[in-house]
Amino acid sequence: MSRSDARLSVALVDVAPGREEEFLALAMRFEALILRKEYGRAETIRDEAQPLRYYAVRHWSTASAAERCHGDPEVQALTAQISQVARITQVVNGIRRPDPAKLLPEDRRERVETDRRTGFDRRQQDLGRPEGERRRSGDRRLGPRRLRGRAGAIDLIGAARRARENAHADFSHFKVGAALECSDGTVVTGCNVENATYGLTICAERVAMFKALSEGHRTFTRIAIVADTSSPTPPCGACRQILWEFGGNLEIQLANLTHPKGTHRLKDLLPLPFDARLL
Ligand code: THU
Repeated sequence: MSRSDARLSVALVDVAPGREEEFLALAMRFEALILRKEYGRAETIRDEAQPLRYYAVRHWSTASAAERCHGDPEVQALTAQISQVARITQVVNGIRRPDPAKLLPEDRRERVETDRRTGFDRRQQDLGRPEGERRRSGDRRLGPRRLRGRAGAIDLIGAARRARENAHADFSHFKVGAALECSDGTVVTGCNVENATYGLTICAERVAMFKALSEGHRTFTRIAIVADTSSPTPPCGACRQILWEFGGNLEIQLANLTHPKGTHRLKDLLPLPFDARLL
């Protein structure tokens, strides 16, 4: 089969509150199943900026493999189970060959072109509400949304807790996670990475900042730092310097695995800083 026959499907998955563990277990089973049956490869990607939201990405080996997969009773049973714990909205359908004329119906195209707030990737249909058809501003929509103006809704500490699970801390056994919020709402995470020579260790905060810089982010609003300690774990001196030079007077949220442990401003943690203005 030629590579050009490969297909991609993407679905937005909104997991019901309290059902995340179940969902992740089912998603892992799904990933293993489609690999085993050679339909393709599946990935479940967490949206760090929106609690309970995932992207289910399917790389089908061929269009017909995708079709066979959808007809497979084992797959169908698993999908039905996933639907019990999550709402799934297909955003890219990889089976059909793309027909540019059909991608965007004329009325929607017109709205997209005249109203900057309406996007091709915004909700596909009104979710409806018991008291009437109109949405209120706080209602959930289908599809990605711009995060500007609602940055406070991002669970930065949750993202740092999850990042901490990836820490390489075999020497200190002190695992740290960080989540850095960029001005556009993107969340970039980091964990500490230790190595056998000890001295090359890098803290979670710097990993997050260097990742973000390397991905082109330039302005930042907040960073959350999480460790498994009852007293807060503030950034070390080296990290304060790096955070200051690249992030300015960031808000620093400290937390442990269960509780927030205080919010600070970087200028209070690093008084009289040295930076490029003094060179
Ligand atoms: N560490 C961090 O990652 N961030 C901090 O804010 C404090 C310390 C890491 C470095 C090292 O891997 C371990 O924690 C113990 O110092």
